[in-house]
Amino acid sequence: MQIPMSSPDITQAEIDAVLGVLNTRWLSLGPRIVEFEEKLAAYTGTRFAVGVNSGTAGLHLAMIAAGVQDGDEVISPSFSFIASANCVLYERGKPVFVDIDPKTGNLDPNLLEAAITERTKAIIPVHAFGQPADMDPILEIARRHNLFVIEDACEALGADYKGRRAGTMGDAAVFAFYPNKQMTTGEGGMLVSNNEDWTNLFRSLRNQGRDVFDAWLNHTRLGYNYRLDEMSAALGLAQIGRIDELLAKRAQVAAWYNTRIDAIEGLHKPYIAATTTRMSWFVYVIRCGEGVDRNALMAHLDSVGVPSRPYFTPIHLQPFYKQMGWKRGDLPHTEQAGDSMLALPFSSVMTEEQVDYVCQQLQHGVDHQHGA
Ligand SMILES: Cc1ncc(COP(=O)(O)O)c(C=O)c1O
Repeated sequence: MQIPMSSPDITQAEIDAVLGVLNTRWLSLGPRIVEFEEKLAAYTGTRFAVGVNSGTAGLHLAMIAAGVQDGDEVISPSFSFIASANCVLYERGKPVFVDIDPKTGNLDPNLLEAAITERTKAIIPVHAFGQPADMDPILEIARRHNLFVIEDACEALGADYKGRRAGTMGDAAVFAFYPNKQMTTGEGGMLVSNNEDWTNLFRSLRNQGRDVFDAWLNHTRLGYNYRLDEMSAALGLAQIGRIDELLAKRAQVAAWYNTRIDAIEGLHKPYIAATTTRMSWFVYVIRCGEGVDRNALMAHLDSVGVPSRPYFTPIHLQPFYKQMGWKRGDLPHTEQAGDSMLALPFSSVMTEEQVDYVCQQLQHGVDHQHGA
């Protein structure tokens, strides 16, 4: 059996939506993006939403709105996807990494205050794997030090923290819609905020720096082409219309995994914090206990048609971050997680039979390591 690592959940409704756009010949800056933004804002519970062509682009624009410039420091976890720190470098700022709570994999608020200096501009909490970061202490510290909070909610559309939706708690938040995400637009992302000035700035920056009143070849500021096209927006509209179904299917797959992983000695299912009142399952990541060699387990899975990924590989250990001076030993919990966490195949279209097969192979792999 060959199991895919992930798969988008595409029905005839999505196909019809994209073909419908092609039939109108209106392929960019049309009505679909506007409608998609309205639906996404309503679902998240923010006043505004601005579609962009990736989550990375959204994070970049959020750094500009926060005023990050040469040498300004932005605090984020290293246990994340590379874009959540690269966005700081795009504006010549300095990423400052803070270690994680080893249970959730999210930024540890107890370590936050010690990382703040007079150069600190913003904090980027990441809602890793679809589980919200512990936002209350983060927001409280940010308020006290006058720092912006940009939620990297790229993995957490629809997640709730103490009943509050991911994406509504900071000054702005970013969602992402790559095909392995809870919902997809192919490539794409969305900035959400309650700040009207920031929203106007995002709209200008994604469209080559044109202000609302600018003629087509007038450019008020340095901008980018970060526009989301109409086919992608139409796909996103069809998917956001099914978001409850998509999240429920993912939760079912996670539940199938949970019972089976519980029965395998040496492997640990994902830890869900009490503050997570709704998990939005993006990936299913297990932790290998001390007696299990994660890399050997991956090699076994690979040999029997089961892909898996070390997830995350810490950002501060990526080659070009190491050149900036970061090294192993700087963030012990992050490194421990980076060495022991493993993302298994996961999507809303995965069957119970496929989950069974993956877990049987996990059991075989663990038994093999223990000489059984
Ligand atoms: C935590 C996190 N931040 C940022 C991104 C970037 O999103 P995109 O791939 O759409 O640029 C992703 C998506 O992979 C992510 O998981």
